[in-house]
Amino acid sequence: MRVFITGGAGFIGSHLCDALIAQGHQVSILDNMSTGSAANIAHIKDQIEIHQGDIRDAALVEKLMAPADLVLHMAAALGVNTILENPIESVSINFTGSEVVLNAATKLNKRIIIASTSEVYGKNPKQPLNETDDRVVGAPQKIRWTYSDAKALEEAIAHALFLTKQLKVTTVRLFNTVGPRQTGRYGMVLPRFVQAALKNEAISIYGDGTQSRVFCHVQDAVKAILALATTDSAIGEVYNIGGTGETSIKELAEKIIERTKSTSKITYTPYDQAYPTGFEDMQRRVPDITKIKTSIGWAPANTLDNIIDDVATEMKK
Ligand SMILES: NC(=O)c1ccc[n+]([C@@H]2O[C@H](COP(=O)([O-])OP(=O)(O)OC[C@H]3O[C@@H](n4cnc5c(N)ncnc54)[C@H](O)[C@@H]3O)[C@@H](O)[C@H]2O)c1
Repeated sequence: MRVFITGGAGFIGSHLCDALIAQGHQVSILDNMSTGSAANIAHIKDQIEIHQGDIRDAALVEKLMAPADLVLHMAAALGVNTILENPIESVSINFTGSEVVLNAATKLNKRIIIASTSEVYGKNPKQPLNETDDRVVGAPQKIRWTYSDAKALEEAIAHALFLTKQLKVTTVRLFNTVGPRQTGRYGMVLPRFVQAALKNEAISIYGDGTQSRVFCHVQDAVKAILALATTDSAIGEVYNIGGTGETSIKELAEKIIERTKSTSKITYTPYDQAYPTGFEDMQRRVPDITKIKTSIGWAPANTLDNIIDDVATEMKK
């Protein structure tokens, strides 16, 4: 297959490139290198086609997409810090940019997978969350929700194109996906903690650390995405992709200290000091992965211990 990946120099995008190359496919990517990097794809730079540009450039997107058998739309503005610092640009990339990619896929009749997020569920207290659960989000003036809103609109447009123009689209809602190459710079918790632990610096927990998450190794997420991409019954469907095993952020910090044999101490920063006033976080965010398990037999293989070890090994390099 020829596979076109938007955001291919990013964390998940670059792991998709690795897996596709290993399977003998041809890969071309479009990335503006904002949160992605040349370093993520340096080891495969001679094996893939790399295009630097913006997904909002409709002519470029159509030109690059035309020869593809499969499109993986991973490009987005993300990370709590990115969204809070650049809300207008982030909404533009996540909504307008995605609309450009979806319209091109419709016009060119391409099979496409779009990366959505568990953030679309917002602060719905019902856990675990399944694909038909409601969105519960805060006021639009609370900027953190703009990421959720833009991704939800992207999903809605994709679904409408499936219904009205037979777009062959599958939506994946990724929950906390982690692993080597993820940067802690934009607010991602696990790489930020591992980095601090390896330097024996204080690990700063935002809030009281009782909030919990479930982490999924990027290699497991990549397997799920690629399996769905070749499953016809997945067209027009939405799937949660996430790990198993709920961990509080305090437990996460303690586990990271233990596994990296760090002397780091844990400190606590109140939310109102870590983020602008009015920041809202979810106490829990647990994926129900019954649908993808039943549909294609996928389940994550890696444990949190594996994930921490893989991230630490890569960071030490
Ligand atoms: N990592 C997670 O836990 C997670 C969770 C939920 C959803 N997702 C989704 O998965 C996808 C990939 O995320 P990731 O974790 O690999 O993050 P990432 O930041 O590493 O990847 C996003 C990539 O998109 C590129 N990009 C941003 N704006 C662009 C633009 N206008 N034009 C072209 N390229 C652009 C960035 O440079 C980067 O390489 C995103 O759509 C994200 O919303 C990720």
